[in-house]
Amino acid sequence: MAKTALVTGGNRGIGQEVARVLAQDGWDVLVAGRDRAKADAAAARLRKGTGGRLRGVELDVTSDASVAAAAQKLRDGAIRIDALVNNAGVLGRAAAAQTIETNALGPLRVTLGLLPLLRDGATVTNVTSGLGELANLDAEHRRFLADPALTRDALVAALHELARGGRGWGTDAYGASKAALNALTRILAAELAPRGIRVNATCPGWVRTDMGGRNAPRSVEEGAASVLYGVTAAETGGVFRDGRRIPP
Ligand SMILES: NC(=O)c1ccc[n+]([C@@H]2O[C@H](COP(=O)([O-])OP(=O)(O)OC[C@H]3O[C@@H](n4cnc5c(N)ncnc54)[C@H](OP(=O)(O)O)[C@@H]3O)[C@@H](O)[C@H]2O)c1
Repeated sequence: MAKTALVTGGNRGIGQEVARVLAQDGWDVLVAGRDRAKADAAAARLRKGTGGRLRGVELDVTSDASVAAAAQKLRDGAIRIDALVNNAGVLGRAAAAQTIETNALGPLRVTLGLLPLLRDGATVTNVTSGLGELANLDAEHRRFLADPALTRDALVAALHELARGGRGWGTDAYGASKAALNALTRILAAELAPRGIRVNATCPGWVRTDMGGRNAPRSVEEGAASVLYGVTAAETGGVFRDGRRIPP
C-alpha cells in the first residue's frame, strides 16, 4: 500500500518540490495550501508532471478552524498520514505576529490537529532555517530554548508574548520563530516517541524561491532534498541540513 504524505505550503517553492519528489517516489501526496484553488492547481500540475497521485487540501496553518476542517475532511476520506512536512513559512514583509503564528505556532497547530490521523511510526518534518540557530539569540532566550526541561506550554506562552509585541529575543521575528521551531521539534519528539513518531527539523539552506530570492546559491531541488531527509530519518528530535546534524 502506498504511503501518504501531507506537505503544508505545498503549492509553490520548496514545498511543491518536496511534493513532486514524494509523488515521483510513489507516495500519495496531499498538497496543502491556504488557498484552495492554488493547492488544487499545484496538485494538478504535479500530477501531470509525475503521473503520481496528488490532491489539493485547503489548510491555513495559522487558523485552528482551517486545520480542524482539513482534519475532518481527511478523516471522512479515511486517510491516514505517514509523513507530515510542516513547510509553510513566511519571511520579510509579514508582520512579526504573522511570522510567529505561521512559522512556529503553525507547525504545532497542524501537528496536533492531524495527530489522530498520523500513523504510529510516522514522521513529522519541520522546515527550519539556519537563521534560527540559538547562537543568534540573546543569552536569556538561548538558555530558555536550550533548557531540556522547557515545556510545550512555556514555549507557547513565550511565543504568544513575542507575537503580542513583547520583548524581542535578540534577533528578528523570523530567526526567533525558527529557533522556537527547533525547540518545539525536540519537545514534540519526546511527546510522540511512545507512538514511534519521529519529529525532526530540516533546513533547506538558502534556496532560490520567492522567499530566498534569485541570488540564493541553492536550487529548489537541492533545498527539497535537504528537507526530505526528515521524511525517512531514523533519528528523532534533531536539526539537520543535508542529512547532517547542525547546531539547533
Ligand atoms: N528559501 C530559502 O532560502 C529558505 C531558507 C531556509 C528556510 N526556508 C523555509 O523553507 C520553507 C519554504 O520556503 P520557500 O522558500 O519555499 O518559501 P515560498 O516560496 O515563499 O513559499 C512559502 C509557502 O508557504 C505558504 N504559506 C505561507 N503562509 C501560509 C499559511 N498561513 N498557511 C499555509 N501556507 C502558507 C505559501 O502559500 P501561498 O502561496 O498561499 O503564499 C507558500 O506555499 C519555509 O518554512 C521557509 O522558512 C526557506
